[in-house]
Amino acid sequence: FSYLDPRLQEELKRTAEEIVTPGKGILACDEGNDAIGKHLEGVGLKNTDENRRKYRQLLFTTKGLSSHISAIILHESTVYQKVDDGTPFPELLRRSGIIPGIKVDRDVVPLFLSEDEVTTQGLDNLAQTCAKFKKLGCRFAKWRAPLKIGLHTPSPRAIRDTAAVLARYAAVCQSEGLVPIVEPDVLIDGSHGIGRTQKVTEVVLAAVYKALSDHHVYLEGTLLKPNMVTSGQACPIKSSPAEVGLATVTAFRRTIPAAVPGIVFLSGGQSEEDATLNLNAINQASLRAPLRAPWVLSFSFGRALQQSVWSAWAGNDANVQKAQMELLKRAKANSDASLGKYTR
Ligand code: 13P
Repeated sequence: FSYLDPRLQEELKRTAEEIVTPGKGILACDEGNDAIGKHLEGVGLKNTDENRRKYRQLLFTTKGLSSHISAIILHESTVYQKVDDGTPFPELLRRSGIIPGIKVDRDVVPLFLSEDEVTTQGLDNLAQTCAKFKKLGCRFAKWRAPLKIGLHTPSPRAIRDTAAVLARYAAVCQSEGLVPIVEPDVLIDGSHGIGRTQKVTEVVLAAVYKALSDHHVYLEGTLLKPNMVTSGQACPIKSSPAEVGLATVTAFRRTIPAAVPGIVFLSGGQSEEDATLNLNAINQASLRAPLRAPWVLSFSFGRALQQSVWSAWAGNDANVQKAQMELLKRAKANSDASLGKYTR
């Protein structure tokens, strides 16, 4: 065993800390072509490279976005696309003071002989992939590993697999100078109550941090992207923001080392307003005794930053500014919530 080069440690730590600058968060717009295609069809547009580029250009050219957004997660295809004036997207972001990052996982495949569980693929040639995107201007990466809550799931095997795969991914990213965003996503699907989500989240996070330690991952140069601890989406009793704040911060204090600089939540299918209210409550819980917490708690939302944008844009060039205003509105709301200062 040997330690990561101190200069590399310093670079990774600086990037991670910059991403979680207080009051800022991440815009995740790394949807695969199929997922963004559904949105495009919803606004009457074909799922073409050009339409995907036009939508992402709308997001990235929003004036003032960097006041609330420190970093953006890109899909591989977007890295090579350009603004109308020929500037590559990663370069545009860098000039706007936003750090570009890259989704490097290759989505999920079934975990053989399991109860509908999955594993995330993409470890093959990952070092080369990371090196390539680092050259193209990306400074961090993301890898999502979903786990389902069911009667017998997540199984011990799925949890072990998730932890090991996330740790391998994180170590490879760091070796190539990218900050790994580690994303174990305990899905919101199901009718379970908040207590079960809390327990499952604790068990999963404990396994993930054991694996990161086993793989010598430098925690100061990582970020965690977890689910919030809520009741299942189909649970008859919906948890209140105060309950979500209490359960989430309690679970984290039990399992996440203080060396981790920041935690950036996924929105996971919550409505835009629910995600913001819950983020706000989580921060309120973590800012004072007895649950005072050492990490920045911010956002890395996909759907909860883009739903209103899609409705306002509706695929029409004349609506670009209106849609950009919606993006700014959600970004500002979540920025306030990341400081525990959101009011409706
Ligand atoms: P949501 O906020 O829509 O869950 O997406 C965030 C993300 O990047 C999931 O990997």
